[in-house]
Amino acid sequence: MPEIRVALVGVGNCSSAFVQGLQYYSKFEEKKDFVGLKNPYLGGLSPRDIKVVAAFDVDKRKVGKDIAEAIFAKPNNTPQITEVPLTGVIVDKGPLMDGVGKRAKNLVLISNASEIDVAEVLRKNEVEIVVSLLPSGAFEASQWYAEQSLAAGCGFINATPNAIACNSAWSKRFEEVGLPLVGDDLIDQVGSTALHKTLLKLLSERGVKIIETYQLDVGGGVESLETLDRSRDAKRAIKTQSVASALPYKAEIVAGSTDYVDFLENKRDSYFWIQGVYFYNSPMQIDLKFSTVDAPNAGSMLFDVIRATKMALDRNQRGAIIPICAYGFKRPPEILAIENAETVFNGFVSENS
Ligand SMILES: NC(=O)c1ccc[n+]([C@@H]2O[C@H](COP(=O)([O-])OP(=O)(O)OC[C@H]3O[C@@H](n4cnc5c(N)ncnc54)[C@H](O)[C@@H]3O)[C@@H](O)[C@H]2O)c1
Repeated sequence: MPEIRVALVGVGNCSSAFVQGLQYYSKFEEKKDFVGLKNPYLGGLSPRDIKVVAAFDVDKRKVGKDIAEAIFAKPNNTPQITEVPLTGVIVDKGPLMDGVGKRAKNLVLISNASEIDVAEVLRKNEVEIVVSLLPSGAFEASQWYAEQSLAAGCGFINATPNAIACNSAWSKRFEEVGLPLVGDDLIDQVGSTALHKTLLKLLSERGVKIIETYQLDVGGGVESLETLDRSRDAKRAIKTQSVASALPYKAEIVAGSTDYVDFLENKRDSYFWIQGVYFYNSPMQIDLKFSTVDAPNAGSMLFDVIRATKMALDRNQRGAIIPICAYGFKRPPEILAIENAETVFNGFVSENS
């Protein structure tokens, strides 16, 4: 049986959905039963081949716990959809650095356990791929975990919006040691950015001239508070640039301003406004609300990028792996149109499986 040995950095809502997803899909064998997954099998690998063998966090309600318990500890608030049996994988305490922003400080309770030697834990547990699910404002900590991956000989997946894979200096360092690097800022399975781009592309291909458009998000996970506090401008720039790439001309675009509404818990509401003109300048507008649960929206894409990174690792591919970055991330080193990214990724999978 193939095995993909993964470490999770940050046992927050995304990790919770990811671990629950691994458990949920573990009972299926037949392709038709994997409802809700984009790729039940990818290059012959199934989600069941992914094994979480190490995890790091800083919150005292998670550190020292089995990951099966830690994923349900506060302030995580993504719904529990399945029982997860104890795994024997205990969450270790990593260094805090800039992990918790001003506002999130009231929600995250820092553990006073001593910090583990992260690179040593990665080596000891034969981790192949480190997945960073740190808060979006944790720039220093994101870089520090990339450094630990290099030290321990692991591939690195940066799901956060912090610039690692799109930074040529980091890409070069992974290239030099012969390890794959992918990122930055994971694309959701049914994400507001993809929906926004698809709508704009459809309208523009039908001859509509888009005049102005915005997309605003509200959510109640700690990450929404983090975004409001520390990464709003960066996220807005990434999403606006990505949405703008769907149009062959310039329009007034704002995408990805986030606000925090605690009672929404892990739900996310996205509001879209599109205004344009069509035949002899006739006006058209779209006013749309799109609701999801945030963390499960990362699950299917995490399954895909982890399996693809394992293929890259096994084929000694090094540095930023463009087909994976462009397919799975909002801020890749090179942005490709959605359909091109799919084609390039499918090509990568068939060449490397
Ligand atoms: N659909 C999605 O949820 C989605 C999609 C794309 C990208 N992302 C990105 O994934 C990341 C995680 O999102 P989330 O909703 O799980 O966030 P979260 O706030 O629920 O989880 C972050 C976790 O990191 C821990 N942490 C903080 N500092 C740490 C440190 N120094 N070392 C180790 N752990 C530390 C926190 O205690 C918390 O458990 C964010 O950067 C987000 O932008 C999420």
